[in-house]
Order: sequence, then structure tokens, then C-alpha cells
Amino acid sequence: MLRHTTVGIIGGGPAGLLLARLLHRAGIDSVVLESRNRAYVEQRQRAGILEQTTVDALRACGAGERMDTLGLVHDGIELRFDGRAHRIDFPSLTGGRSVLVYAQTEVVKDLIALQLDQGGPLLFEAEVHAVEGADTERPLIRYTHRGREQTLSCDYVVGCDGSHGVARDALPEPVRRTYQRSYPYSWLGILADAPPSYPELVYAHSPRGFALGSMRSPTVSRLYLQVPNGTDPADWPDERIWGELDARFALRADPDWRLRRGAITAKAVLPMRSHVTEPMRHGRLFLAGDAAHIVPPAGAKGLNLAASDVIILARAFIQLSETGTTELLDAYSDTCLRRVWRAEHFSCFMTTTLHTDPGHSPFEARLQLSQLARIADSRSASAELAENYTGPPLG
Ligand code: FAD
Ligand code: PHB
Repeated sequence: MLRHTTVGIIGGGPAGLLLARLLHRAGIDSVVLESRNRAYVEQRQRAGILEQTTVDALRACGAGERMDTLGLVHDGIELRFDGRAHRIDFPSLTGGRSVLVYAQTEVVKDLIALQLDQGGPLLFEAEVHAVEGADTERPLIRYTHRGREQTLSCDYVVGCDGSHGVARDALPEPVRRTYQRSYPYSWLGILADAPPSYPELVYAHSPRGFALGSMRSPTVSRLYLQVPNGTDPADWPDERIWGELDARFALRADPDWRLRRGAITAKAVLPMRSHVTEPMRHGRLFLAGDAAHIVPPAGAKGLNLAASDVIILARAFIQLSETGTTELLDAYSDTCLRRVWRAEHFSCFMTTTLHTDPGHSPFEARLQLSQLARIADSRSASAELAENYTGPPLG
């Protein structure tokens, strides 16, 4: 039975698993408690784009082998609007940066396999109910594993339990500040057994709504359509989805262009939300990833922010174990929040620039097109997008 650990990690998503690996490599023990079973965690369809900082951290903790074989390096994205295509070239605009297309499902599989192979306990179906004594020397995690109530005492607790987790609740109300925004649209996301019809991701703005063409591999496409909030995927039979995607991606110069189609293997509606909880630390409890902040996915930032939080946190724990100083731990919340707010701003910018807002007047719709034209025509405006998309180096 587990009784005590240095770092108790709640949640076995990308943030919790990467933190456990980074700590393990530095000889710091941890326990990961994950409420779901392994198959569920490994199959949950989510993000697909990794920034260089995330790629470097995965390599550094030994999870780079499959990623380096299967990941696709992308040097740009395409913006489509007003029936025209504009490429944003990342390396020339950012001094050499690019991104890697490698699915979150694969990142999670790689990290789980390593954690189970090389140790540091990782418990599935271990549901945490509460964190107690966050502001004491020995915080406790209360959880249920295989029907039995358990307690894990920790030197530190890290809440990596996502947007619906319980760790955030341990920040007392007078300390906690919440900032949020919701959007008047959602995404219908599909996975299709079809080779992507585009070499790089396509972000399309059209009067019919936003569409995104992404990919999981050379044979699997991942595509998204803007839909109204509350949409039932059952109202979107496959034929309707393909027809709408073709209409939103339409190019004036190539009217016969059509997406390559294939069997749709997953279909789900995702709401859009921005959310930040501050501070990201209370006593010996730290929050990381979606437990502290949510971004709408148009900026491809969610997974990357989760990774940068835990890279910053792992450095702080390593400093503590090597020198006994808490300087980096004390700076953790402020250090992360600077990146978080930059990513919040960029994600909000991408979302509001690319989607069709049902509340917009024709005047506002024209302003949106003018903003997109500015990005396409101006080196500084496209460099601003490219720098944010590829992510700032951690330093
Ligand atoms: P999570 O991945 O949410 O992991 C949290 C883990 O904690 C989960 O495994 C959960 O089961 C576990 N947990 C929760 N509560 C408890 C508890 N009480 N006890 C124990 N364990 C618990 N980002 C993009 O960039 N592009 C996308 O297309 C995209 N699509 C998304 C689609 C969806 C439906 C969602 C929810 C997010 C999406 N994101 C996307 C965001 C991105 O996937 C997240 O930012 C990323 O998963 C954050 O990782 P995390 O480890 O912080 O949280
Ligand atoms: C994805 O591949 O799922 C994906 C890619 C880029 C985004 C959002 C989602 O901005």
C-alpha cells in the first residue's frame, strides 16, 4: 500500500505523466493517481500539434522514439479566406522554428508505457476526492482505488487533473481568482480514414463558418467544423459533414477542389472556452495544465501549455532537491502565468479572427476579413502569428 511520496500527482493526462517522467529522471519520487482506466486515457481524442519545447521535453525524458519516427514536421500552416489560400512559413518568420504533428493519444501512450516500465507508481482507476492540508507541511490526497478508500501523504501535491478535476477546489475562495470567457460556437470534430488532402494544416474562414483540416498520419485526417453550441452530432450524417467541409474550404482559383473522403471513425462536439485560475499555487499544492487554464483549440496551445507548466515545475523541484532552495517553486505561479496569458490571448485572437460570430454585424464581419488580409499581406503580422503558433522558447 502507498503511504507517502515526495510529489503526489493527481491526473494521468499529458501534464501528470510528463511531470512524473521528468521527476523520475532527476531521482525524485512521485505517485500518479488517475481516475480512468488505461484504455480510456490512451484513446481520448484531443490535441495534435507539438511545439519544439514540448518535443524537447518528451525526448529528454526518453519518450522520443516513436514521436521521432511517426511525427510529421510542419514548417507552416495555410489560412484560407475569401476563397484564397495564404501560407504562413514558420522557419523564415521565426528564425527557424517549426511544429510537430503527433497526436496527444500517442504522447500519452508513450509516457504510460515508460512510466509502467521504469517505475514511479501510476495507478489507474484511482479517483481522488480531495486534497487536504495544502497549506501544511504534509498535505494529504484522499482517493478511492478498487473500491477502497486510501490516503497518500505527500511533501507536495500537483493537481494535473484537468478542467473537471478536484485539486482546484483546495484553493480557498479568498485566494482564488477565476477569469473566463465562453464563445457562441463549438467544433464538430471527426477522424477519418482518408489521406489528408493538404500538405499542412488548413485554417479556413468562410461566411458558412470556420473549418480546420488537420491530420493524425499520412492516412488519417482530423477535421473540424464550426457548429452552433448545443449541436447534436446525430444531426450531422457523414455526407452532410463532407459537403460542408468542401464548401468551407472552397478555393476560387480551383473550383473543382474536393477533400479526399474516407470512413468517419469518430465524431464529437467540443465547446469552446477560455478559463484561468490564479494563483497556480497554494502552500504545497500546485496546479498544472487544464486544471489551471483552458484555451479554445484554434491556437493549438492546450497540450503545449500543460507541458510547459510541468517543465517549469520539474525544474523547480530539481532545484529544491539539489540545493534546498525554493526560489523557482516560489516563482512557479508567476512564471507560468506569463506564458498562460500570452497563450490565452493568442488562442482568443485565433478563435475570434477565424470563426463566424452569429452576433456580428456586416461591419464587424468586414473588419474580420481585413484582419485576415493584414496577416496575409504583412510580414510583421504573419510573423506575430508564426511566433505565437510555434511557441516562445522556455529560456
Ligand atoms: P487532461 O488531459 O484533461 O488530463 C487530466 C487527467 O486527470 C485525465 O486523465 C483525467 O481522467 C484525470 N482526472 C480528472 N479528475 C481526476 C480525479 N478526481 N482523480 C484522478 N484523476 C483525475 N488542445 C489542442 O491544442 N487541440 C485540440 O484539438 C484539443 N482538443 C481537445 C478536445 C477536448 C474534448 C478537450 C477536453 C481538450 C482538447 N484540447 C485540445 C486541449 C488539450 O487536450 C488539453 O489542454 C490537454 O489534454 C491538457 O492536459 P492535462 O494533462 O492538463 O489535462
Ligand atoms: C488537431 O489536430 O486536433 C488540432 C490541430 C490544430 C488545432 C486544433 C486541433 O489548432
